[in-house]
Amino acid sequence: HVAPLKNKYKESFSIGAAVEPFQLEGKSGEVLKRHYSSIVAENVMKPISIQPEEGEFNFEEADKIVEFAREHDMDLRFHTLTWHSQVPDWFFQDEDGNSMLNEEDPQKREENKELLLERLENHIKTVVTRYKDDVDAWDVVNEAIADGQPNERGLRENQWYQIAGVDYIKTAFETARKYAGEDAMLYINDYNTEVESKRTNLYNLVKDLLDEGVPIDGVGHQSHIQLGWPSIDDMRTSYNMFADLGLDNQITELDVSIYGWPPSGEYNTYDEIPEEVLEQQADRYNDLFNLYEELDDKISNVTFWGIADNHTWLDNRAANYSDDGKGKDAPFVFDPDYKVKRAYWELITD
Ligand code: XIL
Repeated sequence: HVAPLKNKYKESFSIGAAVEPFQLEGKSGEVLKRHYSSIVAENVMKPISIQPEEGEFNFEEADKIVEFAREHDMDLRFHTLTWHSQVPDWFFQDEDGNSMLNEEDPQKREENKELLLERLENHIKTVVTRYKDDVDAWDVVNEAIADGQPNERGLRENQWYQIAGVDYIKTAFETARKYAGEDAMLYINDYNTEVESKRTNLYNLVKDLLDEGVPIDGVGHQSHIQLGWPSIDDMRTSYNMFADLGLDNQITELDVSIYGWPPSGEYNTYDEIPEEVLEQQADRYNDLFNLYEELDDKISNVTFWGIADNHTWLDNRAANYSDDGKGKDAPFVFDPDYKVKRAYWELITD
C-alpha cells in the first residue's frame, strides 16, 4: 500500500480531485478515499446540469457527490454558480423566447438585464440554500477575465457581460453571501491567472470589487498547465499578489499536460509515452508542490482536475488538435490503472 497523498500535506492544505458521480464507486472510489481529502464535481454542479429548464432543478447527480463527501468526511468545493459555458440558453432569452443578446432598445435592454439578474439570483439562492452546510468553497464566478483585452478592464464579453455588464459578477457574489452566510468562502476562479496580463486584469477587477464591498474571499487558480509553462516565478507572483489583498488562494483544476500548446497528441496510448516525458512531469510536480508548500499559509486547497490518467478532459483536447483525431494525455500522478507514477514519488518523499 502506498502512503496517502492527503496525509503528507495535511498540515499545509487539503488535496482534492474532480469527479463524475460514476467515479465514486469501484477502484476510482477507493483511490479517492485513500488519497484525497476534498472533492469537486467535474460537471454535475454546473448550471446546465442543475437547472436545465427554468424552475426545473435537478439535484440527483450533484447530491451523490455531496453525500460521498459527507460520508467520508471530505471537504467539498462547489463548481460553479456562474460560467459562460455549460449554462442553458433560457437564461438569456426574454419572456417571448427571443435572445436578449444584441438588443438595441434601451428600455428593453434594461428589462432584460433585470430579468437575467433575477434568474441568476434565483439559481444561486436555490443551490446555495440546499448545499450551504456541506460546501467549504464556492466557485461563484468562473472565467470572467478575457484572454485578450476586449475592453478597458479586460473582462470577458460573454452573454452575462453583454446583457448585465459587471453587475452579473457583483450580483453573483452578493447573492452567494446572502444565502451562504458570513463564514462561507467565495471564490473567483479562472485559468492563466499566472500570466502577467491576465493576472493584472484579475487583480484590478478584484481590488475594485473589494473596494466597493463585494464579498470575495479568494481566488481559484485553475492551473491547467504544461511541463514548461507557466513559470514557477509567475505562479509565486500571482499567489502573493492576491494574498496581499487579504485573499485566500486555491489551486482548483490542476493538471500537467505532457504536451505543449497546441497539444500535438502524438502519443495514442499511455504506453507510448516515453519515460523521459514522465520524468520531466515528475520534476514539474516536484517544483509545483515545493512552491505550494512554501506558500502554504496562502493556499488552502490543491485540487487535481481528475483522479488518474484513465479519465481526463485533456484527452479530448489532445485528440481535437492532433492531425489524426487521436491522442492520449497523462496529466496526473496516478496512471490509467491507478498505479502511482514517478510524479507521485516526488510528491510523497521529502
Ligand atoms: C470541463 C470538464 O472537465 C469536461 O468534462 C467538460 O466537457 C467541459 O468542462 N475549466 C473549467 C472546468 O472551469 O469546468 C472545465 O471542465 C475545464 C476548464
